[in-house]
Amino acid sequence: TVKEVERSYERYRELISTLPKEKGWASDLCLYEGFWYERLFGLEGVMFAQEHFQARPTDIFLISTPKSGTTWLKALIFAIMKRTCYANSTHPLLTTNPHECIPFLEFMLFREPPVADVEKLPSPRLFSAHIPYTSLPKSILCSGCKIVYVCRDSKDVLISMWYHMVKMRSKDLPPLSLEEAFKLFSKGLSGFGPFWDHVLGYWNASMECPQRILFLRYEELKKETLINVRRLAEFLGQPFSMEEEMEQVVEEIIELCSFKRLSNLEVNKIGSRDAVVKNDMFFRKGEVGDWSNHLTTQMAESLDKITNEKLREFRLFR
Ligand code: A3P
Repeated sequence: TVKEVERSYERYRELISTLPKEKGWASDLCLYEGFWYERLFGLEGVMFAQEHFQARPTDIFLISTPKSGTTWLKALIFAIMKRTCYANSTHPLLTTNPHECIPFLEFMLFREPPVADVEKLPSPRLFSAHIPYTSLPKSILCSGCKIVYVCRDSKDVLISMWYHMVKMRSKDLPPLSLEEAFKLFSKGLSGFGPFWDHVLGYWNASMECPQRILFLRYEELKKETLINVRRLAEFLGQPFSMEEEMEQVVEEIIELCSFKRLSNLEVNKIGSRDAVVKNDMFFRKGEVGDWSNHLTTQMAESLDKITNEKLREFRLFR
């Protein structure tokens, strides 16, 4: 009931007030189950999902660390799954931000009461989350539903996150310099961080269960879009038919979901989710390697060193 839900959220807020805290990027960071959460968004939603979310075997989840290509993958998954439902000229992606098409459990559906009634959604339901593997609601793991995970080079994630969080940061706080952001990120102090632990959790899970978890990289998707979009469709159980290939359906989907196309749509230029989150915050450059315009060689080497130490033995990144 509504009252019970409200009481649950009071309980979450009480619990959150007791968690270890550090200064974060936009607000305080709280440590919950080994990962850091920006106090401003989402942790109550994670807790609600853990207690109440009932996954179905047919659900599809897109999971990522923030700024790793979530928006792009949301557009691609939505376009692949719904490709027989809409004509190109009236496609929802032309008038709806990808985050509305595949909502986040923690930020959007369960952020605060009244929570969304996800039970009434028809299957297959499309959801997304930034929740670390070890904190996923148990029913997601038990249901056998499919998870697409996307990750990205830590240096580009840092730069993308810095630009994003500077905009989210309370105007009452002093501006966040890139040097500070770099220090926080390197220490694991970022939303849903440590970044490397998040990636490793899903990497290991995808190795154990490749039919349930597809592990994608932003850089590979950029370089070999066609191959990876075909892979994605196959994984989702919706492979492209010979006919569709002949009709260039894959190419059309890629074009529809491209940075150039999406970032130039009116909804993504001037639309907004709420008073703080504007749709254009999810479209900046959309390139690989923009870090080289911002980070010193020393900073870049330092991040690569952490990546090597934490992820190399798993043959993840170089
Ligand atoms: P940059 O800040 O490096 O440009 P997320 O969606 O996880 O928040 O990640 C945002 C990053 O993905 C931003 O990176 C953004 O520009 C990029 N991006 C958004 N849409 C994209 C698209 N269709 N294709 C490629 N990159 C995209």
